[in-house]
Amino acid sequence: MKLFIDTGNIKDIERLSDIGIIDGVTTNPTLLAKEPGDYRDNLKKICGIVKGPVSGEVTATEFAGMMTQGHDIAKIDQHMVVKVPLTKEGIKACKALSGEGIRVNVTLCFSPAQALLAAKAGAYFVSPFVGRLDDVGTNGMELIREIVEIYDNYEFTTQVLVASARHPIHVIEAARLGADIATCPATVIDALFNHPLTNIGLEKFLKDWDAAHAVKA
Ligand code: E4P
Repeated sequence: MKLFIDTGNIKDIERLSDIGIIDGVTTNPTLLAKEPGDYRDNLKKICGIVKGPVSGEVTATEFAGMMTQGHDIAKIDQHMVVKVPLTKEGIKACKALSGEGIRVNVTLCFSPAQALLAAKAGAYFVSPFVGRLDDVGTNGMELIREIVEIYDNYEFTTQVLVASARHPIHVIEAARLGADIATCPATVIDALFNHPLTNIGLEKFLKDWDAAHAVKA
């Protein structure tokens, strides 16, 4: 399963990419609005760091505006993926942009029916938001199970990008269900590394090593 970082923060992207486990980046208007500087320049820099798919979202809500912004975003860098919302206009733009060979990430997906439409429109990624479903008392991971089942039934090539992941269990469940990608904030990626027994074990190894060498010295 691929792991994407869900942020527009260049320092976090550099820090985690340097480890070698980041396959791509997702952004959205909220995330990009938090960062200083021109969003196009920031997206270009991000592409240069990760050298993998980087999603940039349109803010237009009508088909024509989505097409103009989609072309503009796609021109930023070869790694850019155009993100459109799962509305009728967004699905229409997905179909048109995909037909031109532009990769599209259909975002704000909250139901299996919506995911089916994204696949039919040729989406490269579909982004079901698991955390936001959990927030309203609906099991977000159940949606992933349903989408994976539907896509497998018809061999759709749209990749399931688990979005709005809030903690390591979302990432583990995404992997168990066979999702293609999980995208997470830097805090969640940091948390994936942690286990208290790793720290305790390492501390003991180093203590034993130092003790043995102190005796010999
Ligand atoms: C996905 O591409 C979105 O940017 C993101 O995962 C939304 O997450 P949130 O629900 O934590 O804002």
